Order: sequence, then structure tokens, then C-alpha cells
Amino acid sequence: MGVRISASRLAAAVSSAGCLGVVASVGTGEEWPDRSIDYVTRSYLSLKDMIQKAKDVSSRPIAVNIMCALNNYESLVKASVAVGVAAIISGAGLPLSLPGLVGDSGAKLIPIVSSGRAADLICRTWSRRYQRLPDAFVVEGSLAGGHLGFKMEEAQSAQCESDNLEYLVKDVLDVAGRYSNGGTENIPVIAAGGIFDGKDIARFLRLGASGVQMGTRFVCTDECDAANEFKEAYVNCSKEDIVVIKSPIGLPLRVVRNDFVDRISSGERIDFKCQYRCLSPCNPKETKYCVADAMVNAYRGNMDMGFATCGTNASRINKIVPVKTLVDELVRDAALELEKGMC
Ligand SMILES: Cc1cc2nc3c(=O)[nH]c(=O)nc-3n(C[C@H](O)[C@H](O)[C@H](O)COP(=O)(O)O)c2cc1C
Repeated sequence: MGVRISASRLAAAVSSAGCLGVVASVGTGEEWPDRSIDYVTRSYLSLKDMIQKAKDVSSRPIAVNIMCALNNYESLVKASVAVGVAAIISGAGLPLSLPGLVGDSGAKLIPIVSSGRAADLICRTWSRRYQRLPDAFVVEGSLAGGHLGFKMEEAQSAQCESDNLEYLVKDVLDVAGRYSNGGTENIPVIAAGGIFDGKDIARFLRLGASGVQMGTRFVCTDECDAANEFKEAYVNCSKEDIVVIKSPIGLPLRVVRNDFVDRISSGERIDFKCQYRCLSPCNPKETKYCVADAMVNAYRGNMDMGFATCGTNASRINKIVPVKTLVDELVRDAALELEKGMC
């Protein structure tokens, strides 16, 4: 989760608790102390440093999330490989060139898709160009946080359609079933978006998913790298406060409504100087605010000049807990639910 919401501290805590912790690579250069070097180099150095710090704390594998829409995508992939990341999770576009960038580094490659069609295109392209298949797919539904791979209307209406992700998971499972890694195993499918508790996890495992990716719930943990104000925005919000806005890159973005969100939604221009040219679909001359600035400000706790992106379930969270407590609760409740099904 970017910008820096899931940095080394959260990723290490999640991995140490037995899951796969993910370092977000977006906006990493912002905090690098030496401002005399260019943003791409700062981001490269900072991402390497963040992954290494997580690896130093946890003896278990650490993954990285790199969005295809980032202008410095290639450089961030190289930084991750250089520091021996275990897996690269990549969405917000189709990571068609990813295998060529990682070579034989051994990093597992996990595209994020929102349809079976996208999964199929990736499998076909990777097999033809690189003779390899994804090591897993994350299937992200429209209840997720961050930028969403759906049309605006779909993302808005999805707030009451809880079965959407189930349909997508089945769709991608079908595609995964047609391809296989080495002919012995299907490509594992990981469900994401709106998964809140152990019951939800069990539901997707029963459906055939091999795991789940969760974001929103892990924001409200002691170890989450965001400022307390960001976490409190989740704890204090109601269902009605969670809205979908159009991001400057044209994609829907789910956020907790606040004064800043009202200002940009009413068309007000928030002056900015484009410091990063971070997202390739963004045209800084036309956009009315800088989404990177808004996210960096929120991560630092300045909610007057930013917003907290969140999944639909953020309003159900009412306290901040240690990662281990959350993971233990999720695993216990999922196991109980699965046992029930077996009786
Ligand atoms: C604060 C926040 C930041 C996120 N940042 C990213 C990101 O940088 N890249 C990405 O691919 N997905 C991002 N996401 C999506 C999550 O990785 C995850 O797939 C999704 O939120 C899962 O749904 P959930 O939040 O309902 O559990 C973000 C989500 C949140 C809540």
C-alpha cells in the first residue's frame, strides 16, 4: 500500500506473523534524505533500502508492489531484484514486460488482474515471449482500496455488490486452469478487495482461491508506516464517508471523504508543482491537484492537504491493533469457518 503506507515496518511485521509482507514502491524517493540527486535515483535507492530493512527484521520472504503505471517502473523492478526480493506483485496496467526485466533472479512474479481476459493475455504473452507463466495471480475486485481497474460507475455501484469478487475469482480460476506451471500445478489465484475477516477468507478458499491479499485492515495496525491521523481517518469514518473519486490518472480511487476531498470534488484547483512525473497517464498541465502530493501529505498526517485511500470496509474498523493480533484472529476465524463446512 502506497504511498509508504506499507513500508519496511509493516511488511516485516506481516511476514514475521506468517503472511507475505509487501513493501509499496510508489513514491519511495520522497523520503530519501539526499535531495541533490534526481527523483528516479532517489526512488531506486530508497526502495532498495526499504526492502533490505524489512529483510533485516524478518527472516521470512518479503514482496514488493510495483504499479505498471509508474514512469520509473523498470528502475524499481531493478532495485527490487538487486536486493533479492522474494516476489514482485504488479498491477495498475498489464505487466507484460516484467519477466524480461527480472531475468533469472528467482523472484516470483504475481500480476494483479481484474478479469480473466487480462489473466489470459498475460499468460499468452509471457509464454510466447519469455517461456514462463505467472507464479500466481492476484484478482482484485472493485471493493479494494487504492486505484481501481474498473470504470467509475462499476467502482461506485460495487459498494453494495458483495458477490463481484467471487465472479472474478471464478473467471481467473478458469483461465489459470487452462495453463499450468510445468504441467503439474495450476497457477494459484489470490483474491483481493473487501476481504475483512476469517469468514471472508474461508469463503474465497472454498471457492478455489489459494490465498487472499488484504490491505485496508492492515492500515489500522501499530506497525503500519502511516501517521496516526491516517489510521484515525479509518477508525472514525462511517460507511457514508467512503466515496469514489476520479483520480488525475483517470481511474476510480476510493477515499475517506474530508474537506480536501470536497474541495477537489467541487473542481477547486490545488496549486502544485509537479515534482515527480510519477504516473505515466497523468498530465500535470491539465490535472487540478497532484495525487502523489495528496497521498504523501496523508501518509505524513496532514489530512488538510490530502486523503486516506481505503477499501469499502474501512468503516467497520474501530481500533488499532498489533499485526500479530490481527493475523492470529484472521487465521483462527478462517480455520473455524472451514471446519464448520466440513461437519
Ligand atoms: C492505503 C492503500 C494503498 C494502496 N496502495 C496500492 C499500491 O500502491 N499498489 C497497488 O497495486 N495496490 C494498492 N492498494 C490496493 C491493495 O494492495 C489491496 O489489493 C486492496 O486494498 C485489497 O482490498 P482491501 O483493502 O479491501 O483489503 C492500496 C490499498 C490501500 C487501502
